[in-house]
Amino acid sequence: MTELTIRRPDDWHLHLRDGAMLAGVIGDTARHFARAIIMPNLVPPVVTTEDAKAYRARILAAIPAGDRFEPLMTLYLTEHTEPDDVEAGKASGLITAVKLYPAGATTNSHGGVRNLDNAMPVLERMAKIGLPLCVHGEVTTPEVDIFDREAVFIETVLDPLRKRLPELKVTMEHVTTKDGIDYIRSSGRNLAGSITTHHLIINRNAILVGGIRPHYYCLPVAKREEHRLALREAATSGDRRFFLGTDSAPHADPLKECACGCAGIYTSINTMSCLAHVFEDEGALDRLEAFTSLNGPAWYGLAPNEERVTLVRRDDPLSFPHKIDTGAGPVTVFDPMFKLHWDVAG
Ligand code: DOR
Ligand code: ZN
Repeated sequence: MTELTIRRPDDWHLHLRDGAMLAGVIGDTARHFARAIIMPNLVPPVVTTEDAKAYRARILAAIPAGDRFEPLMTLYLTEHTEPDDVEAGKASGLITAVKLYPAGATTNSHGGVRNLDNAMPVLERMAKIGLPLCVHGEVTTPEVDIFDREAVFIETVLDPLRKRLPELKVTMEHVTTKDGIDYIRSSGRNLAGSITTHHLIINRNAILVGGIRPHYYCLPVAKREEHRLALREAATSGDRRFFLGTDSAPHADPLKECACGCAGIYTSINTMSCLAHVFEDEGALDRLEAFTSLNGPAWYGLAPNEERVTLVRRDDPLSFPHKIDTGAGPVTVFDPMFKLHWDVAG
């Protein structure tokens, strides 16, 4: 196959940041994607419906002329989040989901949740009104090894929460382990998972073999090869519970290339080319559309995009920039370590 036409994709987990970085990266997403769920971990975070409204306006103002793109807004869950504010945000059509960051789990998560008991009133309200909870599924307990944090989260936080509130719709974001895939598969309903582009391509060796490579460092951190294979199997299976959330997370290079580098991999610009390559490798190009364009909207109760895009396999490899320039500094582009031939032709 050298040509594939699919519905325009959406990205169900994206970091756009703000200000000069927002202006520098949004074009890469808007070029290919119709919609994206926008992460709220700004400094300060997007906590209230009012914050989300203002942030949405800044995003809309930054979309390049001629592109159409719809940001789907989320709220950053805190122990003080007001159930009435969340309900009003959903009722107004502004809020698509609420995001749970366990405090300390990742970039700008210190204002997140320490004790989930304190967030129960808002979680109960979300269950009642059908508003999904997007979850960064890692425990932050120092005793737990960083490679085990997702599995331990499922056992000690997610499963008890879902038993306590079976009506709550939960998106387990950026699943990185076979444990996560198996857990989603074994759950009856109200649970789905997003998978990033980079976790389908790299395992933990990418970060550590031959030197320490900060541009492959993200959270949850890439795991062993057996986990990557489980993610590839799930993503390419067509199972409606799995869909794309790139977690494209730009940081200016100096903030990654230093003694304590930030977590995040920037993939917006070449994600569709990478995914077509992965699905072709797996003999599953016919299921790419389910992963990028159908399963996500179905889970969030939205219609799939009517518009189509055509991917074309070029004989010569594509050339993507090694870095993009933004007003907030250079951002290194994800290098999948293989040549990319699939081009989004329009
Ligand atoms: O790698 C990551 N980067 N993982 C996250 O959970 C947050 C993100 C960011 O905001 O940079
Ligand atoms: Zn993220």
